[in-house]
Order: sequence, then structure tokens, then C-alpha cells
Amino acid sequence: MAADRRRIGVVTGGGDAPGLNTVIRAVVMAAARRSWETIGILGGFEGLLPPIAQRPLDARQMDALLFRGGTVLGTSNRGRFSGRSGSRSHQRLDPIVVAEAAAMARSLNLEALICIGGDGSLRIARALAQAGVPVVGVPKTIDNDLPGTDATFGFESAVSVAVDALDRLSSTAESHQRVMVLEVMGHHAGWIAAHAGVAGGADVILIPEIRFTWEAVCRRVEERARAGMPYSLIVVAEGARPVGGRYVMTAASRAGESRERRLGGIGPKVAAELQRRTGRESRAVVLGHLQRGGPPNAWDRQLCTRFGVAAVEAVASGAIGTMVALRGSTIVPVPLATGVGRIRTVPVDGELVRSARAIGISFGDEPAIPSGSG
Ligand code: F6P
Repeated sequence: MAADRRRIGVVTGGGDAPGLNTVIRAVVMAAARRSWETIGILGGFEGLLPPIAQRPLDARQMDALLFRGGTVLGTSNRGRFSGRSGSRSHQRLDPIVVAEAAAMARSLNLEALICIGGDGSLRIARALAQAGVPVVGVPKTIDNDLPGTDATFGFESAVSVAVDALDRLSSTAESHQRVMVLEVMGHHAGWIAAHAGVAGGADVILIPEIRFTWEAVCRRVEERARAGMPYSLIVVAEGARPVGGRYVMTAASRAGESRERRLGGIGPKVAAELQRRTGRESRAVVLGHLQRGGPPNAWDRQLCTRFGVAAVEAVASGAIGTMVALRGSTIVPVPLATGVGRIRTVPVDGELVRSARAIGISFGDEPAIPSGSG
């Protein structure tokens, strides 16, 4: 490597998402065409802590990354960067760890460190930027909940997996005349549930943005039975909860074994409660990490490629401290801070929810229609 060759770094942080490798590939290939070198930080932001873990990325070895799931760089959730207090989205970063990572990053003499991540990772990226590291962010998460961009990559692929599951569940629901409940991820946002529910023909969609009542959900199931369809398909986001109810957490979270509190388990709860209240046989499937693994779909492949190229172009044009974002149909750099903050949730009166309601999909919040009316 010539001593004066420009060099960028790339790091993937937080939970994996389909398309991480596609972004890495685009970054490395676009950088190589400018004769820049790219190094990959290994194991997420933890790789920046001593002893630094990094390796050069060769543009000639990028072909298979287009559709390979996961991240070849490895990733980690906040790990040593997490301070001790606060919920996931408000957890303080440990300033000593951030300073240590920033010093290591500066020692790599990078034009920029391209940080691919969701809310937690972009918070670390912002902290590194504040400590003088030149950073460009790329918005990743299957949850689609980052502010500042119309979409994150990984989301569409996760929705495809959920829709495939719904297609399969609908035939078994009908054959057995059962209520089938599919629990999907999304953390505190209902994007996956809402999109998959509409695309997969759900009868009920339960999302964190709309508290539901058991009565309304049961009513929809019974209405369908009265109309000659004694089977129903319900999609529930892991962060959904009934009016007056609590979030359902994973067993490890409840037992305090997990450092981060993790949502999970509302699906089986919905199935059990519906069976108890309606007497109808109900089953639950928790889709879990199937939504995160495997290849990105076609939409994500093109989005990831454009995000990766845009990140390199941001470096070239000096747009440091930005995050590349999808706005309408174009990719633009926006201030990095735009991607960090309050999560972006499903608008409860938005067109998506209104369209779903217009074809009879319940969100579990409809009031009972008094008998004799309508
Ligand atoms: O943020 C992505 C996400 O998949 C959420 O939808 C989910 O709540 C969480 O990560 C699961 O995290 P973990 O991989 O730690 O189980």
C-alpha cells in the first residue's frame, strides 16, 4: 500500500440485518474505484478497543457478499460501550470506553469510519464523531424505526420472511379452523407487523403504537366465524400490549440473565388468551431471528448498494458527520444526529393503518358496535 493512499474504515454494529454484507461490498467496491483502501473493523465497535481488531477488505473478494446474510465483519451489541443505567434507547455510553475507541480510531488515519448500524450503533458513532473521529452513518435495522430516513435496510427482507410465514400459516389455519398467531420483531415499533399483516392477509394486527383490548380481538375472530370463516390470522409485534397490560419480556430478561431487556412472548400469550376467551383452538409461532438471518431481498440489495455508494460519496465530498438516508426516492446525506433520537413509529392515523382498517383488518382497538345499530 502506498503511504499516501486514502483509507476508509467500515464497521457493523448491533443486531445483524439482511443486507449488511451488501453495504460492505458497495463501500469496498466504490472505494476501490477511487483507489482508496478499505479496512474492516471486526466484531462491531468492540473491535476498536485495544487490541484493535481489523483487516483489509479486498475489492476482488466482494462478489459473494451481494446476497450473503449476516456480516462478514462480525457484530456486537453495545457491550463495553454501555453505561450501567437506563433503558436500551436511553442507556448512557461509557465515556471512558468511547474515548479509548476514539483514540484507536484516530490512530488508524482514516478519511472516515463508515458506521453501519441502528439506534444504538449510531449513538456510538455520534459519540465517536464528537470525540473527533470522522464518521459517516448508514441506517440499518429490520425494525425500520430510525428517524431521519424513510426506510432502513433489512426491513423489507424481514417483512418478506414474515409474509412467507403468514402465507403458510393461513392454509393451516383454514384446514384446522384455528386461530394462528404470528409474533414478529420490531422492538417498540410496529412496522414489520403492520406491513407483513397487510401483505400477508392478517385479520388482526397488534402493534405497540395502538393498545389493544382482548374484547376487540375476540370480537373480530367471532365476527369471522359468524361469517363462515372459523379461522383467523393474527400478527402481533413483540412490543404490543393490551390496554392496562405490560410488555411481555423474554424469560432471560425476566430472570435478569440478559443485560439488555428483550421483548418476546406476547404471541403465545395472545393465543392462550384467545383460546381461553373464545374456546377456539389457537396456536402461536414466534418468528424470531429467522427475520434477521439469510439473504437480503431484491429491494434491500439495491438499497444497500445505493447506501454504500452514497456513504463513500459523502466521504469524497467532505460530508463527514452525516448519515446517508432515503428521502422519497433518493439517497441524501443528513446530519448524523438526525438518525439518533426518538424512534420512528407507525403513524396510527396514517394511510397504511387506514387502508388496513378499510378492508376490515382489526388493530384490536375498535369499540363494540351497539346491537341494533348499523
Ligand atoms: O433491533 C433489532 C431486533 O431484532 C429487534 O427487533 C429485537 O427486539 C432485538 O433486535 C432482538 O435482539 P437480540 O438479537 O439481542 O435477541
